[in-house]
Amino acid sequence: MKLLVTGGAGFIGSAFVRMALSGTEDLALGNLDVLSYAGNLENLVSVSDDTRYRFFKTDVADAAGVEAVFAEFQPDAVVHFAAESHVDRSIHSPEPVIRTNLNGTFTMLEAARRHKTARFLHVSTDEVYGSIDEPHDADEEYPLRASSPYSASKAGSDLLALSYYTTYKMNVSVTRASNNYGPFQFPEKLIPLMIANALEGKQLPVYGDGMQIRDWLYVDDHCRAIRAVLDKGRAGQVYNIGGSRALPNIEVVQRILAATGHDETLIKYVADRPGHDRRYAITSEKVERETGWKPQVEFEAGLAETVRWYKENAAWIANVRSGAYRDFYEKNYGAR
Ligand code: NAD
Ligand code: TYD
Repeated sequence: MKLLVTGGAGFIGSAFVRMALSGTEDLALGNLDVLSYAGNLENLVSVSDDTRYRFFKTDVADAAGVEAVFAEFQPDAVVHFAAESHVDRSIHSPEPVIRTNLNGTFTMLEAARRHKTARFLHVSTDEVYGSIDEPHDADEEYPLRASSPYSASKAGSDLLALSYYTTYKMNVSVTRASNNYGPFQFPEKLIPLMIANALEGKQLPVYGDGMQIRDWLYVDDHCRAIRAVLDKGRAGQVYNIGGSRALPNIEVVQRILAATGHDETLIKYVADRPGHDRRYAITSEKVERETGWKPQVEFEAGLAETVRWYKENAAWIANVRSGAYRDFYEKNYGAR
């Protein structure tokens, strides 16, 4: 199989690439990535010499660039991860989010249509359902009520992807995963930001009252689910992928403090995120029933492994915390 992954230099995409190439599968794997602030080839050092692997530095929203990759690589399947993935950045600067997530998905779908690519998996998020009141859990039929420019762009791209099944009979599936965590995650999201700050004895900025609920999914479990849907998922179908581990943010932060040897004096409650979704909750029964997938990594074990990885990779953290990172940090947290 010739598999084209987009966004393979990011957090989840690189975990997927490393996993796909970890065995001896007869695979040609192309990675189409523009290397935005979140894309990092250091995440792929372990596979860069693998003869099955190729890198294409290309923007998903650049139709000519994408066409050139399809013409050369001729993929049998696409797994589309590339996105602007951070809610806070989407609030400060929605333009690149719309461009990459909407126009970029459109560009990828069009190229796949022209080239009659046999399979297209669009990687999305449970955030498209918006905040969900207790006691409900969203299944795949739940209404889309996205709150942020990020989640709205993902909801739009999900519908666009599904329209290529309905209209053009393309073999498209959509996955909607809950919050991921694990090694190599850019330190702008809750868990890596709190770990990186705690390791330096810096304050941990908790938005609002910290009682917002997220369902945590270890990144390797997500990658296994994506592979299961790629292989066994049905065309035109959406599959939720949850970690079955819902926790309030403050509890996640307390566990990180304990794992890094700090007490709660490091916590700083700061102004809430505008439009902040209170609770995400999904059911993954469909993907479990149709593919046999189940999450394998308990939150305690996954968090311990993640903290260990950040402790041992201080140079990786230092490299990604460039001047641009410091500018973002000041913009997002300076006035809170
Ligand atoms: P990330 O921000 O870590 O990585 C994104 C990758 O996409 C980077 O390598 C970046 O260089 C690349 N990219 C960005 N813009 C691009 C463009 N215009 N052209 C080509 N490449 C571009 O993101 P992530 O956390 O790995 O998320 C991957 C996917 O999974 C996204 O689609 C996201 O919406 C989805 N998702 C993420 C989570 C999560 O918790 N992180 C949960 C559910 C779904
Ligand atoms: P985040 O990792 O940005 O993921 P998402 O918004 O996509 O769920 O945030 C997870 C939760 O943590 C969310 O409720 C916002 C909260 N949060 C903080 O309290 N402080 C922070 O500095 C960050 C980045 C997030």
